[in-house]
Amino acid sequence: MPTQLKYDTSLAKNTDLAVVVAADQAAQLPELQPEEQQYVQQQAQQEAKLIALNRYTHHVYVVVAPDAKTEALRKEALRQAGYTLLKQLKADKVEHITLVDKTASEAGLYIAEGLYLSNYQFQKHKTKDTKPSKLQTITLADEQVGQQAVEELATVLEAVCTVRDLVNEPHSHQTAAQLSEAFEELGRKAGFKTDVLDLIKIQSLKMGGLIAVNQGSEEPATFNIMEWKPENARNAKPYVLVGKGVVYDTGGLSLKPTPQSMDYMKSDMAGSAVVAGILYAAAKNNLPLHIIGLVPATDNRPGPGAVAPGDVITMYNGMTVEVLNTDAEGRLILADALSFAKKYDPELVLDFATLTGSAMRAVGKEGLVVMGTAGEEIMAALKKAGDNVHERTVEFPLWDEYKKQLESDVADLKNLGGADAGHITAGKFLEAFTSYPWVHFDIAGTAYLHGEDSYRGKLATGSGVRLVYNFLSALAQ
Ligand code: BES
Ligand code: MN
Ligand code: ZN
Repeated sequence: MPTQLKYDTSLAKNTDLAVVVAADQAAQLPELQPEEQQYVQQQAQQEAKLIALNRYTHHVYVVVAPDAKTEALRKEALRQAGYTLLKQLKADKVEHITLVDKTASEAGLYIAEGLYLSNYQFQKHKTKDTKPSKLQTITLADEQVGQQAVEELATVLEAVCTVRDLVNEPHSHQTAAQLSEAFEELGRKAGFKTDVLDLIKIQSLKMGGLIAVNQGSEEPATFNIMEWKPENARNAKPYVLVGKGVVYDTGGLSLKPTPQSMDYMKSDMAGSAVVAGILYAAAKNNLPLHIIGLVPATDNRPGPGAVAPGDVITMYNGMTVEVLNTDAEGRLILADALSFAKKYDPELVLDFATLTGSAMRAVGKEGLVVMGTAGEEIMAALKKAGDNVHERTVEFPLWDEYKKQLESDVADLKNLGGADAGHITAGKFLEAFTSYPWVHFDIAGTAYLHGEDSYRGKLATGSGVRLVYNFLSALAQ
């Protein structure tokens, strides 16, 4: 069961409570008993950030709101405080928590966010209940925030956890066709339309990049078109989101090694999950924007018909590509989707992909690598949205000099650059298939983690959903 996040100010008797206070408020909480007040004061003086009181019928937790240098960092510190609070709630086996905010600064909203995201666990394939957290509901009792903001946030967080579920699902349970079914199901739940093109259709459209990557596989590729088009859309031209849907990346004939490489390549469809997650949140929250999601989906395998290093393929837009490394497959399927996006005459195209190890090496798990042609205003708005939700972006240049690395002796382009700046040459490859304002997100470093990182958790993070939702909802204002 996913966590419930709801708004209710009624404060039933004997419910577990977390009271959020500013540092100087800890000394004066009228609802506490005198002994409790004294204890809280004394703890606060010793700089305790979380003070637990056991009242036997229920718990009261005093959360001291952290200070920070900027507003964005304050929000992040609050999310982290939500993660710390969950550790205590686990220890106390708390099932329902109500957050009361005394700071008059929406602190409860960000604590709720951190709490909710920390409470995620992927239990589907466990036959026994091993979940350490019993927490089921988070109630925010803060009139300043209000019902609408809580519900909007709840949907976005539900979308993040849905993306985590999709990315954590192993390939044994998620072929391209099964991923398409999952998108259709999400569309039914949230109210967006999903159109799944099958391999025959993909072949008739001559999507050469997607066909080439799918050639060594036993499972047919799909091309997924998701659309949210409300009557009150503020944009005349749609925002198009493109996601890499490689349900499993063996590397193909350029086979990957197993440890710390192929062993987690079920996560190579994270970009596609982010796209579906954003559509889910946008549709369920009735965002007044026309948004289209495009996802080419396939596994990348070295089966008998596999594309071979040295092969030349013809892409959807007619360009030819020499495939020198079959493990650089993401750019091949994305290129077709980016060319396809042109028919929508988009306002802006954003693509999401676990595209290169090079992006991961450049910034690690701390930032999303971005590059693009959308111009300064869009880049600034994306950066701002990223700072707001602490999914920060690092922009890299698309200087034309990098394109020389993609010159082929036999075709228009090759799919492999040199040893350096691999995330940028991958970006340059994609750029060749765009003809509209565009931003590429390489999420190889942030989509899937090997150790727990606060409320981002371990394994799939859902990285990108909160950022893009924040960016789009600002555009919808
Ligand atoms: N899916 C990988 C990129 C990746 C690496 C994602 C690590 C997450 C973690 C992608 O398809 C790939 O194999 N990229 C190659 C490209 C190279 C052959 C030019 C890479 O980055 O090594
Ligand atoms: Mn690869
Ligand atoms: Zn890949």
